[in-house]
Amino acid sequence: EHTKLWGGRFASGPAEAMAKLSLSTHFDWRLAPYDIAGSRAHARVLHRAGLLTADELERMHAGLDELAADVESGAFAPVLEDEDVHTALERGLLERVGQELGGKLRAGRSRNDQVATLFRMWLRDANRRIAEGVLDVVDALVAQAVDHPEAVLPGRTHLQHAQPVLLAHHLLAHCQALLRDVDRIRDWDARTAFSPYGAGALAGSSLGLDPQAVAAELGFDGATDNSIDGTSSRDFAAEAAFCLAMLGVNLSRVAEEVIVWNTAEFGYVTLDDAWATGSSIMPQKKNPDVAELARGKSGRMLGNLSGLLATLKAQPLAYNRDLQEDKEPVFDSVEHLELLLPAMAGMLGTLTFHTDRMAELAPAGFTLATDIAEWLVRQGVPFRVAHEASGECVRVAEARGVGLEELTDAELAGVNPALTPQVREVLTVTGSIASRDAHGGTAPDRVREQRERVKASVEEY
Ligand code: ARG
Repeated sequence: EHTKLWGGRFASGPAEAMAKLSLSTHFDWRLAPYDIAGSRAHARVLHRAGLLTADELERMHAGLDELAADVESGAFAPVLEDEDVHTALERGLLERVGQELGGKLRAGRSRNDQVATLFRMWLRDANRRIAEGVLDVVDALVAQAVDHPEAVLPGRTHLQHAQPVLLAHHLLAHCQALLRDVDRIRDWDARTAFSPYGAGALAGSSLGLDPQAVAAELGFDGATDNSIDGTSSRDFAAEAAFCLAMLGVNLSRVAEEVIVWNTAEFGYVTLDDAWATGSSIMPQKKNPDVAELARGKSGRMLGNLSGLLATLKAQPLAYNRDLQEDKEPVFDSVEHLELLLPAMAGMLGTLTFHTDRMAELAPAGFTLATDIAEWLVRQGVPFRVAHEASGECVRVAEARGVGLEELTDAELAGVNPALTPQVREVLTVTGSIASRDAHGGTAPDRVREQRERVKASVEEY
């Protein structure tokens, strides 16, 4: 006779197709260690409520320890008849401590409050690992910034040459976004740190149990204030899916740049052999697959978020079985980020930057035109006039096929008499970059300060 958690009112077992539809152990088995931790805490509050003797508590904990070891070693595993992880572990416990004692543990809890609690626990641990992985990516970018304090490249808008910037400034821009991802996970954790255990199916417990004690034992800040909300809300899961999707999107933006930088046309970077792949037919190929997988996987993370929100939409309170569909999308995002983050850190940390190539392109496409305009403004020329004059310089230079820095004194003065030879001080990439020295700008001193702040926040986590 197989263990069912709800056999009493049924004359027959479920149809085979029903059982197959119901099954979730192929994905919720990863909650098993958390389920057992929950059972240990629950046994303790049952004992304190006078529902388990000291001896029973001891035997229960011994049985749970044995079960945990067998789960870990693989000696105990779910079978087809186990509906979910909770059912399977109940069977395992009954096999170890007997029907009578094992049957007492279910008092005052339901799979509804269990799963809502265990999912939170699993996700809090997973997100801590993810945050660590993100910090490793930030470390790799910061190390490149440290190694290339003076390297320049053409900053772009619309992917067109815009203004020269420091490579370090550009790399740190990605760090800023990734650190916000870590921050978001931390904020999420503070909201998710409440345990629904003891809420029962939806209405709470009549057995004198102490949800706060269970919450504390399971590492939560407290118990949820409302048993209906605790068992049926999944905004913590949707918010986690958002945090992970946003992280995926931010990684895809770094990735897209590596892909472009690695083309012959850009020639900014060479990938380390360990983080690139070859082609089965074209012997010369060295492909940026890590970056492309980052770009591709961000799509599935977006799908996981929108799929989960669609599952949650319009579900009436409290628990509905629809909620069994809440876990796979989040598990999937975590799983893929755990594969991706170390590879991204490895690829970014080992990129070789071709700083000569980047420096050569930095002034190309008249990236210093804004510098002429702003230099004129500093001489007292209204910006509207200065913008016109600088634009005319571009026209003259373009017609003659030269860069702005190659215009003659006569050509400059011909455009506007205020354009004296002194303007040449900003007509170099380094002069332009050095002049952008307000907070947050690309001037070397500001970038160094920024880099130190980024390092400090990485260390703080
Ligand atoms: N496996 C379910 C889930 O993941 C929990 C079981 C609740 N089942 C039920 N009939 N109330 O949500």
